[in-house]
Formats: sequence, C-alpha cells, structure tokens
Amino acid sequence: MQLQAFLSVLSTLVLGSLASPAAYMFANTPTAPSDNAVLSPQSLTLTALVSKDGLSGLECWVLTPALVSSTAEGTIGALSYSNLGALGNSSYDLFTELTNAGLHNAPAPQYVIILRGQGELSFPSADPANVTLTGNYTLHAGDILIVQDTAELSFRGHNSVWQPGTSTLQLPFASGAAPEHVVLHEGGCKRPHM
Ligand SMILES: *[C@@H]1O[C@H](CO)[C@@H](O)[C@H](O)[C@H]1NC(C)=O
Ligand SMILES: *[C@@H]1O[C@H](CO)[C@@H](O)[C@H](O)[C@H]1NC(C)=O
Ligand SMILES: *[C@@H]1O[C@H](CO)[C@@H](O)[C@H](O)[C@H]1NC(C)=O
Repeated sequence: MQLQAFLSVLSTLVLGSLASPAAYMFANTPTAPSDNAVLSPQSLTLTALVSKDGLSGLECWVLTPALVSSTAEGTIGALSYSNLGALGNSSYDLFTELTNAGLHNAPAPQYVIILRGQGELSFPSADPANVTLTGNYTLHAGDILIVQDTAELSFRGHNSVWQPGTSTLQLPFASGAAPEHVVLHEGGCKRPHM
C-alpha cells in the first residue's frame, strides 16, 4: 500500500470514528509521519532491506493493520500484531567470532531477528569495480529486520558484519511475501519497533 493511499484510508477511518482515542492520537500525527509519530506505539515499525532498480537499500516500514490490545489468555492487554504471517524453515545462528559476511543477497524473503549482539549493514554502489560500501546501519539486540533483496532482485546485495557473540533467527515467509505495510521513509528506522 502506498503512503498516500494509507493516509486517505486513515483519514476516512478518523472521520468515521472521532470518538476513538486511538484514531484521535493518529489524527494528531503529522501528515508525513516521522518515527516519533508511532512512539505511542500505534503500530509495529521495522527496518526493511529492499531492492530498488537492482540495488539493495533500506526503508522504514510501518506494518498494517495497527497494533490491537490482545484479548488472548496469557497476553491480555499486550499490544499485539498477529499478521507476521506463516513462517517457513527457520534457523538460529550464533556468530562465535567477528564475521564479515561480504556482499551477499537475502537467501529468501524473511525476518531476521537479532537476539543478542550487534551487526552492521552496508551497501555497494551500482559499479562492480567500486568497493566502497556506504549507508551503514547498525542492528541491535531485539531488532526485527525484514530482508528481501534476493538474487533475482538485487545485483550486488548487501554486506553484513556481525560482532562476536551475536545470535540471530532467520524466519522465511512461507508465502514468500512480507506483511502489508506502508513505507514511512527511505533509510532504516531511527527507532524500530516503536
Ligand atoms: C522447508 O525445507 C524443505 C526441505 O528443504 C523444502 O522442501 C520446503 O519447501 C521448505 N519449506 C518452506 C516453507 O520454506
Ligand atoms: C564509489 O562509490 C561511492 C559510494 O557510492 C562513491 O561515493 C564514490 O564516488 C565511488 N567511487 C568511484 C571511483 O566511482
Ligand atoms: C561501513 O561498513 C563497511 C563494511 O564493514 C566498512 O568498510 C566501512 O568503513 C563502514 N563505514 C563507516 C562510515 O562506518
């Protein structure tokens, strides 16, 4: 869904439910939402590693629909997002030493969840002769990343460097597709999951 379409749906919802506190809070967010707009939080925001014109890069996404207050036993009252989607064969990885993975593509469209430690993503330019990597983005423990710069989509992929002791979960989307979302802005989220 494009941002404009999302905002127009949103304004319809807001007009239709002015009494709702959630709609009221969303109505007060700026028309061009910043990462702070979802600090409350209303929605699950996360960084997505995508491919555009054959080049890998980052976007900050807000997953839709918004968070709801859970009514399920065990999580009652928790802000809940139940559209993560069915997951395929998943793996746990522990980097026992400093690991520079070099340029590579996402093996499949998937979540990468950082359990412990830290990683740094960086990106090549379109020129294969140019070894300079830019756009560095640090991943912290607790971050949920979506990666989908697979080899069919991205010529050169991305680079990742993992600190010793970092552990991750790789959870491919069984459907091959990420959840519905709105792109908040280019580049990784400054404050994911808020
Ligand atoms: C899981 O792995 C098996 C064996 O490699 C493969 O046949 C199957 O398609 C995979 N399923 C998903 C959802 O990735
Ligand atoms: C290599 O790529 C970097 C980053 O995109 C760019 O700043 C630099 O000018 C490029 N170098 C050459 C020699 O093209
Ligand atoms: C970005 O990451 C690359 C790959 O690890 C590294 O070579 C480069 O020095 C980093 N750039 C900055 C500005 O930290």
